[in-house]
Amino acid sequence: IADERESLYLVNKFAAEYFSNQLLKTSQGKAIGLSYFKERGFTTETIQKFQLGYSPDQWEAFTQEALSKSYQLTFLEKTGLTIVKEEKKFDRFKGRVMFPIHSMSGRVLGFGGRILDNTKKAAKYLNSPESDIYHKSKILYGIYFAKQAIAKQDICYLVEGYTDVIQLHQRGVENVVASSGTALTPEQIRLIKRLTNNITVLFDGDAAGMRASLRGIDLILEQDLNVKVCAFPEGEDPDSFAKKNNQEQIQAFLNENAQDFIQYKASLLVEEAQNDPIKRAETIRDMVGSISKIPDAIKQEVYIKTCAKLMDISEEILYSSLAQLMAGKQ
Ligand code: CTP
Ligand code: MN
Ligand code: MN
Ligand code: MN
Ligand code: MN
Repeated sequence: IADERESLYLVNKFAAEYFSNQLLKTSQGKAIGLSYFKERGFTTETIQKFQLGYSPDQWEAFTQEALSKSYQLTFLEKTGLTIVKEEKKFDRFKGRVMFPIHSMSGRVLGFGGRILDNTKKAAKYLNSPESDIYHKSKILYGIYFAKQAIAKQDICYLVEGYTDVIQLHQRGVENVVASSGTALTPEQIRLIKRLTNNITVLFDGDAAGMRASLRGIDLILEQDLNVKVCAFPEGEDPDSFAKKNNQEQIQAFLNENAQDFIQYKASLLVEEAQNDPIKRAETIRDMVGSISKIPDAIKQEVYIKTCAKLMDISEEILYSSLAQLMAGKQ
């Protein structure tokens, strides 16, 4: 089994090099893929660092090349790079620009592939399927390139997408990783916790995912990390924002807009509940729920005081509700 995993790593390594070559050295790759990345503002240096690539717009260009280099079809299939259907073989990522996903130690575990024509009905991003080496719940995009900066600056920025990581990185903000659109998992948080106790979650300014993300953040509290959140202006994500601003401007924006998560959530919920008593009661329970996840009793106490003020309710009632919840957990 160890040998088999090794074979999957080798196939992915070959694929990443193949896609990179296609992007940088073929006329189709340059005309379509490279010009796409340049339009997004990525420099050649950035493209090479993140090993970005291009998968030709032909049914089995990659698969044939890999087979001709003696990579076995079973491994091409297990990594998901090749789809085998009724004896026919297809390249999964045909006609897409490629984002290799690296492990903490820099090995290629899988890929994300972006469609170039947004108007097509196919999914904007396709990702490698789960395999013996790729478990999407256990990896964060960009961790290999970010780990030193995260440890050194003692804070990690968590974004949604591949291009958010890359654009911020290019602008000199290197302590950033992405959950790649999936809900954050405890394993992903543990990866960050190996490097720092401080996370700031950066939300796309589209509000859609924000409510869902708020739930995921309780998982971060559970692991006793300090969490801040920072919402981007309407219609912007960290990528589009970083593209328009320089490093100082980005850093200033983050410093000014990052808000303690509990405070942020309490203010948001209070605003939503307005004067509706039922909603206010739900809001208070929701907040006590978040606070109950924090393992540190001193932090809990501080947050109870904060929430009592923000939500205009007595500390006593928050304490008793917290005590009830905590008792229920044991
Ligand atoms: N994602 C995915 N499949 C999709 C859409 C999104 O896997 N169909 C993941 C990708 O990892 C993507 C992340 O969710 O990077 C965030 O999604 P979104 O904000 O929609 O995309 P962006 O990263 O902003 O991509 P782009 O700027 O290229 O549109
Ligand atoms: Mn495994
Ligand atoms: Mn989004
Ligand atoms: Mn986005
Ligand atoms: Mn984007």
